[in-house]
Amino acid sequence: MAFETILVEIEEGIATITLNRRDVLNALNSQVFTELAEAAENLAVDDSVRAVIITGGDKVFAAGADIKQMALLGAVDVAIGLRPSKIAFERLENMPKPVIAAINGYALGGGCELTLAADVRVAADNAQFGLPEIKLGILPGGGGTQRLPRLIGAGKAKELIFTGDLINAEEALRVGLVNKVVPADQVLAEAKKMAKKFVSRGSVALSLAKACINEGQRMDLEMGLEYEHKCFSLLFATEDQKEGMKAFVEKRKPNFQGK
Ligand code: CAA
Repeated sequence: MAFETILVEIEEGIATITLNRRDVLNALNSQVFTELAEAAENLAVDDSVRAVIITGGDKVFAAGADIKQMALLGAVDVAIGLRPSKIAFERLENMPKPVIAAINGYALGGGCELTLAADVRVAADNAQFGLPEIKLGILPGGGGTQRLPRLIGAGKAKELIFTGDLINAEEALRVGLVNKVVPADQVLAEAKKMAKKFVSRGSVALSLAKACINEGQRMDLEMGLEYEHKCFSLLFATEDQKEGMKAFVEKRKPNFQGK
């Protein structure tokens, strides 16, 4: 996949998307969003890919949407021109494979929101998170007002969004914004380790578990439990379920085929 503002590499079933606008701290302009949306669409249906990592490289994740580009936009331009950001985030969030954000340095505004579209977040001990949009006279428009309170609770999300203040990795871990904090030079390796573990599990079960959790957040408890029960039942039609339980009985590791 050849893009200009992102790099996509696939190795051992794990795709790594790297944001590639280093000179502007990976500020996310409309081209980045369009390319991310296309990459996510391709990776979702690529059978050779079983997990996706998104990173900004070893210095910075992303300092937000491109303010210089946004400064020139009117309401209609934003409604239409920034639509790809919504599409990109939703495609990453909903793809039937695990998506891990590997975060070094700043993850601000749209950059922080991009990490929220991932399933799990691994952060460097030097990472900084925040939604500073309020200081620009806008609100977090890349899902921040929706995904952040669902992840860390409304109270803490409101504090971050109303103040625009940044928090460090330790605080992000404490409030549940990130899953793990590791030394800065080990972020990508840790994300790959996590991806490999996900990939070693039954991929049909994992994708349905992801769907249950994501879809469940759009439903009341009763409907969510019903949805879960249907997915659970469906898994008993897979070879992976037979293999997983047979392997347990035979005291060996399962050899899942993803079907
Ligand atoms: N958009 C465009 N360019 C940006 C940028 C952004 N979000 N963030 C940084 N840059 C550019 C700077 O303009 C600068 O470029 P020049 O060298 O051409 O001047 C370059 O990246 C390096 O940045 P700084 O010199 O500012 O670096 P610093 O280390 O002094 O500060 C920072 C780092 C604290 C992250 C600071 O750059 C900053 O505050 N950036 C903006 C953060 C922000 O407000 N993000 C929210 C954006 S709005 C949004 O994301 C909307 C949404 O909900 C989708």
